[in-house]
Amino acid sequence: MGDRICRLSPNAMMVFILGLASFLSTPLANADIEVADTSSSLSTYIIQVRKPEDKDLTTREDLDTLYWSFLPTMAARSNQEQRMVHLYRNVLSGFAAKLTTEEAEAIREKDGVLCVHPEKVLSLHTTHTPNFLGLHQGVGLWNDSNYGKGVIIGVLDTGIFPDHPSFSDEGMPPPLAKWKGRCDFSRTSCNNKLIGARSFIDSSMTPTQAVAPYDGEGHGTHTSSTAAGAFVRDASALGHAKGTATGMAPLAHLAMYKVCDANGCLSSDILAGLDAAIEDGVDVLSLSLGGISQPFFDDSIAKGAFAATKKGIFVSCSAGNSGPFNGTLANEAPWILTVGASSIDRTITATAHLGNGQEFDGETLYQPHDFPPTLLPLIYAGVNGDPSSALCLPGSLVGRSDLQGKVVVCEIGDGRGRVAKGQEVKDAGGAAMILVNGPVEGYTTLVDAHVLPAVHVNYVAGMAIKGYLSTALAPVATIQFKGTLIGGSVAPAVSFFSSRGPNLQSPGILKPDIIGPGVNIIAAWLFPLDNSTNKKHAFNVVSGTSMSCPHLSGVAALLKSVHPDWSPAAIKSAIVTTATTSNLGRRPIVDQTLHPADIFATGAGHVNPSKAVDPGLIYDVGPQDYVAYLCGLGYNDSEIEIIVQETVKCLSITSIPDYQLNYPSISVRFDGSETTVSVTRTVRNVGPAKSRYRSVIDSIMGLDSIVVYPGDLEFIETNQTASYRVDFTRRVDWKATATPFAQGAITWVSAKHSVRTPVAVLFE
Ligand SMILES: *[C@@H]1O[C@H](CO)[C@@H](O)[C@H](O)[C@H]1NC(C)=O
Ligand SMILES: *[C@@H]1O[C@H](CO)[C@@H](O)[C@H](O)[C@H]1NC(C)=O
Ligand SMILES: *[C@@H]1O[C@H](CO)[C@@H](O)[C@H](O)[C@H]1NC(C)=O
Ligand SMILES: *[C@@H]1O[C@H](CO)[C@@H](O)[C@H](O)[C@H]1NC(C)=O
Ligand SMILES: *[C@@H]1O[C@H](CO)[C@@H](O)[C@H](O)[C@H]1NC(C)=O
Repeated sequence: MGDRICRLSPNAMMVFILGLASFLSTPLANADIEVADTSSSLSTYIIQVRKPEDKDLTTREDLDTLYWSFLPTMAARSNQEQRMVHLYRNVLSGFAAKLTTEEAEAIREKDGVLCVHPEKVLSLHTTHTPNFLGLHQGVGLWNDSNYGKGVIIGVLDTGIFPDHPSFSDEGMPPPLAKWKGRCDFSRTSCNNKLIGARSFIDSSMTPTQAVAPYDGEGHGTHTSSTAAGAFVRDASALGHAKGTATGMAPLAHLAMYKVCDANGCLSSDILAGLDAAIEDGVDVLSLSLGGISQPFFDDSIAKGAFAATKKGIFVSCSAGNSGPFNGTLANEAPWILTVGASSIDRTITATAHLGNGQEFDGETLYQPHDFPPTLLPLIYAGVNGDPSSALCLPGSLVGRSDLQGKVVVCEIGDGRGRVAKGQEVKDAGGAAMILVNGPVEGYTTLVDAHVLPAVHVNYVAGMAIKGYLSTALAPVATIQFKGTLIGGSVAPAVSFFSSRGPNLQSPGILKPDIIGPGVNIIAAWLFPLDNSTNKKHAFNVVSGTSMSCPHLSGVAALLKSVHPDWSPAAIKSAIVTTATTSNLGRRPIVDQTLHPADIFATGAGHVNPSKAVDPGLIYDVGPQDYVAYLCGLGYNDSEIEIIVQETVKCLSITSIPDYQLNYPSISVRFDGSETTVSVTRTVRNVGPAKSRYRSVIDSIMGLDSIVVYPGDLEFIETNQTASYRVDFTRRVDWKATATPFAQGAITWVSAKHSVRTPVAVLFE
């Protein structure tokens, strides 16, 4: 098959670290895979083959034999074995193998081969957050869902530190009989909390060489404990953010699929992890990782997530850390829940005091008690417009004697670890560091385990500090440490790094779907930050959409536990239509600029678990609806087959434009040719049998009218469905509005429920 979908080009590789891991000294980004240009070198390719229709070919062994038959013939079987990397049975029909360019080309030409992809490298992108999200012991959703009891959350990440008390199984029943997974730690390390753990990195075809999936980074331990960590009393990081640490679904089971390490995550390993998770019987999948925006047939996570969704597994993914610029999302497929990151109402505060009496609050985790209140000389690290010294990049301050004993001002940015910047200042003899934001980072400040007295301040504070530096004859400053404060009314606010829509692959699907806590999140860690030997109380504060994703995975587990018969789309609908659009100060949610955040930053808004459990109405989507949607997206039959793993003939089904998928939000586009766009939706009554809803419409800029037919929906029984149509008509002078997009909502309101359907309108 001459299939040009999967070019052998080394395009578009690594992308984002979804945990803005300040602890990593080198960013995971930009480590492009070398695609062989000499015939002798081997690269890993993912080969998708047409699902055998032969009904006799059903056993695992038959499939495997089929896969092996595609490999180049070699003198010895052992040579062939060294070439095979993974065999896939659930996530797709195919395998990953090490091949030369010529061999890959040859396989592509074989009968039954759908496509041959070069492997890609993707990147990895709480004591208080459950309470912040309205979850409290003994009452409400936690009580009603029994803390997620019995639900299995599969986490694809960097591995896990199994002995941490967050993974204690006290009070946990064994998993249900449907669980088929395995644990590659030594016998004692898995338990009724951590029920499975496997590594797919450097795996070999010989099962005797199973590698224990220990976490070498901390990322996987952190995300797992956020989703389903047990209650751990007296948790804190460097003595701060003290409290009882717990995941969102404390009685859910966890299974770790290690697919990432310090170098990132290989797409062939991600598919292998998903393949195993589907077979093992997980209920929810949590992926705090991703690549750049790509057509879904070229996106391993989109393909794997489709196979999982088809089996009823809910898939929650991080949105990416490439904000605040628009069109920067990862994981945009409609069968995935795409999660952006927002702040919580806890700060771990420190204040920069300047010689002129000005004070600026900021944040840091490391809060020394013995830092003197005396003002020290203040200096800007950058010299002669040299950007690397202004950013305090590793090596940039070597040999600088002018920083000795001073408070050094460094700029945030460049993707380098913030802690590494502090280390650079410390190595140059600096006494302290003030880390300042630029306009891009705005008011988002991050809590880090710095190695010296330090404070991270916002953009406006940074401007004032630099203004003072440039005018004062002998500038001086100090830092005062104030510890943990709860109650910021501006929370939740969207962080600067949270990736933004619109959805590049499918503009008719609003993404991100939701925001959740992802800034300064405390959760389990590998080692104590204070160098103590008490590993059992290791917690760290980390930020990223990597952290917001497992919050939503945990919430999905709680909902699944209350509503075991709900489809993944129904659970998503419940989360989306009940989201909160205002902050604790009862004002619209803001972004890093402190201005109201737009719909491509927030999606539906901030997750509200207690409301999500009882949404009133749901928008459901089944596997066949996605096929009609993919046809409407303009993908051809073989491209769709690559995603849905069955033969598709778009000509013989009714395709739908993407905005007509029965999604819980609406995104329409005016490209100039249309004056009215009509959108149809169908809701199912999951509230009281007899209920009556009326529509409440938020007006939208640039539109002349929004008309909903019918304006009222009446239900007389549970599970009854009703459809409605919305006609959006643009203004005659819409071009004069000069906004690229506008936003609003259609809300169905009954005596007991409020079902909010967010609406985005793109003008092009
Ligand atoms: C689908 O499109 C690809 C190019 O992306 C092409 O190689 C392939 O032949 C097409 N398949 C069909 C069935 O048209
Ligand atoms: C907790 O849940 C149980 C049943 O699961 C219920 O009987 C009880 O009333 C609930 N308690 C509260 C305070 O909601
Ligand atoms: C931990 O130990 C290292 C090296 O021994 C030291 O540089 C660092 O400051 C210590 N960290 C803390 C928080 O005490
Ligand atoms: C509603 O539908 C679900 C399956 O979709 C079913 O499990 C449930 O029993 C139904 N409820 C009623 C009251 O019919
Ligand atoms: C995205 O950003 C570009 C450049 O900043 C701007 O021209 C465009 O209108 C923006 N689009 C949306 C939908 O915000």
